[in-house]
Amino acid sequence: MAGNWKMYKTPAETNAFFEKFRPLVEKSEHCEIVICPPFTSLAAAVEAAQGTRIRAGAQNIAWAKEGAFTGEISGAMIRAAGATHAIVGHSERRQYFGETDETVLKRTQAALESGLTPIVCVGERLEEREGEKTEAKLIDQFQTGIAGLTEAQFARIVIAYEPVWAIGTGKTATPEMAADAHRVIRGQARARFGKEAGEAIRILYGGSVKPDNSRTLMAQPEIDGVLVGGASLDPIGFASIVNF
Ligand code: 13P
Repeated sequence: MAGNWKMYKTPAETNAFFEKFRPLVEKSEHCEIVICPPFTSLAAAVEAAQGTRIRAGAQNIAWAKEGAFTGEISGAMIRAAGATHAIVGHSERRQYFGETDETVLKRTQAALESGLTPIVCVGERLEEREGEKTEAKLIDQFQTGIAGLTEAQFARIVIAYEPVWAIGTGKTATPEMAADAHRVIRGQARARFGKEAGEAIRILYGGSVKPDNSRTLMAQPEIDGVLVGGASLDPIGFASIVNF
């Protein structure tokens, strides 16, 4: 159960969140819990989560180890801040910052090389959904991105299916729509990396997940977890999603 805070929360706001959130998930041992704050609040999140099962993740990661890459943050830096995960290829990165399937693959490999768990995002846009091109899009994203990993690398990633039209819009994919998309992705995983790897890969759903729809989404056997944006900013709401 992962929260993507996007560009919200200062370190002080992060501390305030954890004060309330920590006791609410103290006994939640059924899942991994990851909070992905902005880089500047990563250290605060790591410190506030100390002694709990809550982990912190970055929202992006550079493909290079170091160098002249203004504005980028490397895997080693993210690790040094105490994070364990990194979101890669979020649709907002693709839409506003020129992320492509090729750079997503490079960033995924960089995360793995630095010992982080990448949460690799895929998903179709509204016009692709309406043009009945969802399946083709997911296959294309898989083939051009994730399929470039080795089997050992693939075993260490998490995939997030986030239909772009459902992000921040209040429109959630129906549990059946999400499950269909997850089956396509899992089918690709099986074909490329083998049956076992296809079964084992964890696929999260993201896009307008709220406390009142998380239970029906999680009831789908195909959905292994959720990647939550807006609703993860509220400690009570996100705790109720975690404890679906
Ligand atoms: P919302 O939950 O705000 O729709 O955002 C989803 C998302 O983009 C998570 O990465």
